[in-house]
Amino acid sequence: MIKNVTEKIVYIGVDDTDIDLFESQYLVPNGVSYNSYLILDEKVAIMDTVDKRKAEEWLQNLDTALDGRKPDYLVVQHLEPDHAGSIAMVMEKYPEMEVVASDKAVKMMPQFFNETKFEGRVMGVKEGGTLSLGGRTLHFAMAPMVHWPEVMVTYDSLDKVLFSADGFGKFGALSHDEEWIGEARRYYINICGKYGAPVQALLKKAATLDIAIICPLHGPVLTENLGYYIGLYDTWSSYRPESEGVLVAYASIHGNTAEVAHKFAEILRAKGAKEVVVRDLSRSDMAQVVDDAFRLSRMVVAAASYDSDVFPPMHDFLHHLALKGYTKRRIGIIENGSWAPSAGRAMRNIIDRFKDVSIIEPMVTILSRMKPSDISALEALADDVLASTCERCI
Ligand code: FEO
Repeated sequence: MIKNVTEKIVYIGVDDTDIDLFESQYLVPNGVSYNSYLILDEKVAIMDTVDKRKAEEWLQNLDTALDGRKPDYLVVQHLEPDHAGSIAMVMEKYPEMEVVASDKAVKMMPQFFNETKFEGRVMGVKEGGTLSLGGRTLHFAMAPMVHWPEVMVTYDSLDKVLFSADGFGKFGALSHDEEWIGEARRYYINICGKYGAPVQALLKKAATLDIAIICPLHGPVLTENLGYYIGLYDTWSSYRPESEGVLVAYASIHGNTAEVAHKFAEILRAKGAKEVVVRDLSRSDMAQVVDDAFRLSRMVVAAASYDSDVFPPMHDFLHHLALKGYTKRRIGIIENGSWAPSAGRAMRNIIDRFKDVSIIEPMVTILSRMKPSDISALEALADDVLASTCERCI
């Protein structure tokens, strides 16, 4: 797609609607976009390339938008292959073009492009570095770990545009019209969730700039109400819950633990819980449940015992939360076991390694099937969950 962002900044990115899994792990039912921009000033700069899956379409967009001009610079803000996958091709096509990237990216480039000759064509920049395009100057700010160490963002002080790399991106192709927040959160938590502190550092830098437009590397260009998006990024990157509510995530082999989880949700609702989300970890999109866990203020995990451990879908879920830096919460536990319940111990062992997360005691143990005698323990856990506050949240 080719579309003007401002008079001299043109969107030249591409949609990918036939990818099965983004990063070979994330479901993207509505596809994803790889964004790239062209700045047509006295000098011409390309802002990032696209995944090689869509290189041909992108090169056509570039050619059309150039309208006979030649690019002087390729600004590489992020080396992950969904953005850097077409660098070698475009370098070959425009042998006069120089690459501008962070010093860290310059060091990493040979790892990705060992057959491409970059000598004499690469300009490394540092924090505060600038590049004049004639009518405007690009200002570079390093954004390490948002989401790789070599990432930088770029501010065009003339049009007041922040090129924000992965920041403020979302899943979903641009051809698919949908509300920003859902797929932006699922993208942020799963891609950048672990890197809250670096995102906070970037937000502090952004706060010093007069920004009118945000141009991310995925999803729509943001032009209005930027405080809304920046506010959500502040919430997500500081690990504050976005909503008051309880996630009940369960891993059930034969349906008995599922029954307990749904009963527990019913109890929570009856006690006035604002929002209760129940997820079957065997059948849910893992990235969505991780998103739920970060979004909501409280969580209860319920799982069957399995091979003296915990049923693998729950192990997988808790491992994902550990990877993404889940923190500043309290968690309730329900375990199920028929002869030597082990799920609670196994879940506790993982949760104990989370930072600033504590377990709401006591956990509830169900023996095989929920019985009327179990209800009082579930009621008590529900009371504790609803009464619990996490010192550092909300
Ligand atoms: Fe969209 Fe970290 O790459």
